[in-house]
Amino acid sequence: MSAMRIVLLGAPGAGKGTQAQLIAKAREIPHVSTGDMLRAAVAAETPVGKRAQAIMEAGQLVGDDIVIEITRQRLAGDECKKGFILDGFPRTRAQALALDAILMELSAPLDCCLAICVETEEVVKRLLKRAEIEGRADDREETIRERLSVYEAETAPLLDFYRDKSLLLEVPGEGIVEQVGLRIEEALG
Ligand code: AP5
Ligand code: MG
Repeated sequence: MSAMRIVLLGAPGAGKGTQAQLIAKAREIPHVSTGDMLRAAVAAETPVGKRAQAIMEAGQLVGDDIVIEITRQRLAGDECKKGFILDGFPRTRAQALALDAILMELSAPLDCCLAICVETEEVVKRLLKRAEIEGRADDREETIRERLSVYEAETAPLLDFYRDKSLLLEVPGEGIVEQVGLRIEEALG
């Protein structure tokens, strides 16, 4: 299978992380998750982690400057030369423009933006279930609702951003993980 550069979009709980892992394995490309990188920074109590912790626990977005910089460093690394799947970035128009600039500098254009679409009540259900199992700090119901409203305001407009570039592939995210995975493989071709 050929190396690819993919952006994964979708609401909190849509299954970005779950599907990104499957795609990364199948295509032998790194899974680049800004959420995972930020949670690691929080756990390690780095300066970035200290700035991000309270923002993440409130369900708000960490500042563009921080997130763009950690993503830039990761994408410029050797590991991403064979392609990548970006999960959770970009989340704002400023991040999307910054990504374009980073990839232009690396002469590494995106192949597609894959959007996983799931109804609000289904994602809330999934995240409340995960809260019982994993206890992620931002999986409290109030914070989940805040993350969803931030998604609608800041990130959902990026669907049009990528549609206008003819890069958008939309995939229904309901059904079991394997079913969604098959739809994605079909869409990626
Ligand atoms: P991030 O870590 O990106 O979280 P999120 O977008 O809120 O999404 P989740 O990770 O909760 O959901 P997911 O879509 O990955 O779904 P998953 O596969 O886990 O960001 C967290 C925070 O970090 C942000 O709020 C922000 O503060 C900060 N941040 C990160 N990136 C940033 C950026 N670029 N700019 C600014 N701030 C940033 O699945 C969810 C659950 O459902 C799991 O339990 C899973 O097992 C289950 N599940 C998955 N698929 C299915 C299925 N088909 N059926 C049933 N259950 C399923
Ligand atoms: Mg995730």
